[in-house]
Amino acid sequence: MSQALARKPDAPALVEGEFAFTANDFAQIAQLLYEQAGITLSDSKSTLVYSRLAKRLRALGLASFAEYIALVSSPAGDTERGAMLNALTTNVTRFFREPHHFDHLRDQVLAPRIAAVKAGRARMRLWSAGCSTGQEPYSIAMTVLSLLPDAPNLDVKILATDIDTKVLATGREAIYSEELISAIPPEARNRWLEKDRASGDWRMSAAVRSLVSFKELNLIGQWPVKGPFDAIFCRNVVIYFDEPTQERIWSRFAPLLGTEGRMYIGHSERVAGAAGQWISDGLTVYRHQAGGAR
Ligand SMILES: C[S@@+](CC[C@H](N)C(=O)[O-])C[C@H]1O[C@@H](n2cnc3c(N)ncnc32)[C@H](O)[C@@H]1O
Repeated sequence: MSQALARKPDAPALVEGEFAFTANDFAQIAQLLYEQAGITLSDSKSTLVYSRLAKRLRALGLASFAEYIALVSSPAGDTERGAMLNALTTNVTRFFREPHHFDHLRDQVLAPRIAAVKAGRARMRLWSAGCSTGQEPYSIAMTVLSLLPDAPNLDVKILATDIDTKVLATGREAIYSEELISAIPPEARNRWLEKDRASGDWRMSAAVRSLVSFKELNLIGQWPVKGPFDAIFCRNVVIYFDEPTQERIWSRFAPLLGTEGRMYIGHSERVAGAAGQWISDGLTVYRHQAGGAR
């Protein structure tokens, strides 16, 4: 845990509002977030941090950010540290984001393995690391089902992990608004979504849900996962990490990929320092030089 930085009396407000919020408060929160999630916060994020955490202060009945920081820095603040992470992560996602990745997955990774999986001679393992509210793993699931409608009865599993417990709960629920599902191609939408009577929204069908398991996992912590994976999607997640942390994560994925396994990353992400280990296999798609796990 970070040592609380010395508090200057009457320090000027960094963001004006209901609660006093100084540059020192922001620095301490940024330090906590970096230690716990690897996420770096630039100074331009101060208003965002204020507005997201002001809700937590209100909910807890706290009078100042100083009190909030004291709570999340203490051993008793375990639950609130989780709530702080949930409040500060950026969870923007959508179905079939970067559609070329799903075409690549279908044609280059899944199609060559279909016969073996159908015959029970091979399994299929896919990982959405930083899955947010489920759109990415469910897009993977619908891609699998487009080739293998019997996937729920075969040895096919999609692991969906995130540090944010709130988005994981949404993913497990699998209910999305009409607007969100409009990004799903009509054929898949008609086939794999059902109207949720209670909410009037749409729910992924039981077949799609049965393929995906949502688990809490911090990418800068231990990974209780078992490869080899046919594909790892880790898109628009490490963009919030510093370069050494990004490189560490790419390197940890490598031994978890199967010989034909691919890693899919976000459109603005690079595997710069580790480039020697990875071979580009299309736009933001990589395979590992050593061929990954056997
Ligand atoms: C912008 S979303 C990307 C979602 C999806 N991969 C996509 O590209 O649409 C980033 C996700 O990474 C998660 N995340 C951030 N830091 C993390 C960490 N240290 N471990 C695991 N997940 C993390 C956030 O909670 C968030 O849901």
